[in-house]
Amino acid sequence: MVAEALEAFAAAGTVAELKQARIAHTGERSPLALANREIGALPPQARKDAGMRIGQARGRVNQALAARDAEISAAELAQRLRDERVDVTLPTELAPVGAPHPVTALMDQMSDVFVAMGWEVAEGPELEAEWLNFDALNLPPDHPARSMQDTVFVDPPERNLVLRTHTSPVQVRSLLDRPLPVYVVCPGRVARADEYDATHLPVFHQIEGLAVDEGLTFGHLRGTLEHFARRMFGDETVIRWRPSYFPFTEPSAEVDLQCFVCRGTSVGDPEHPCRTCRSEGWIEWGGCGVVNPRVLEAAGVDSSRYSGFAFGMGVDRTLMFRNNAEDMRDMIQGDVRFSRSLVGGA
Ligand code: PHE
Repeated sequence: MVAEALEAFAAAGTVAELKQARIAHTGERSPLALANREIGALPPQARKDAGMRIGQARGRVNQALAARDAEISAAELAQRLRDERVDVTLPTELAPVGAPHPVTALMDQMSDVFVAMGWEVAEGPELEAEWLNFDALNLPPDHPARSMQDTVFVDPPERNLVLRTHTSPVQVRSLLDRPLPVYVVCPGRVARADEYDATHLPVFHQIEGLAVDEGLTFGHLRGTLEHFARRMFGDETVIRWRPSYFPFTEPSAEVDLQCFVCRGTSVGDPEHPCRTCRSEGWIEWGGCGVVNPRVLEAAGVDSSRYSGFAFGMGVDRTLMFRNNAEDMRDMIQGDVRFSRSLVGGA
């Protein structure tokens, strides 16, 4: 009986097989259990003798069972560890985790240039009081920019709310909110009832800067924008200043960048056209000027003591010529292939 049991245990190769063998050789209907049950019918002396022998036999069988069980479990564990082994040196395929939109990334990058110079970033609401968007900026009610063509007005009319047409109202808010001197950049979304085509979006982004302090001049504006341009387009960047008009600055200028791709060499050379500046040699970048004293006064700033300068650039437009984006409409489609296609990232 014992030899048979030991043989069966040794033959079992898995936990399941060993269980079968255990039931057959130690279970209720096993020869050992049956023999045990029959002891009661024996005369006293034989009973004692048989009891001892069966007890010993059970001891040996159980011992062998436990030993075999330990062996098989250890082998199965070792096998599982081999099977489930993780090779940490295998190359992995990383799941994409997303990234800021190129327009957002560029806006942050632009803001960072000013933060590095100690300026603050200021934000304001996209739904803006008409007074802050226009009147406080010296844009009287009969100014063409206030006509229905450009401005998205919001019902009801008596609340005098508009979708801001530029980030300039944040200039006024900053002057009203902060102690002087003020050095802020205002990045944000703006809206104009404009075309929707490859070079226009009715909703786009601007970054505006405002500095108000004692003794600020056009010279400070020039130095600031030249530094800004070099940070954005490289140390070789050449700037051109063109006289212009904005109601909120006087004098006002338009800032052009010499094309940083062809450096102006494509002008008059039909053999080598430049896509970036359309062979014009220069790229319009933004407007700027010395803050009109009337704007300072509207915001409660003493214009006999303080002066300032301001500038504003289109972010989406900058992304277009800086990173070679062909169609502005791609910027709002949410297709990640657009972001990946931008030259030099953003
Ligand atoms: N707000 C002007 C625009 O939207 C840009 C600008 C800002 C011009 C500040 C001068 C000074 O076109």
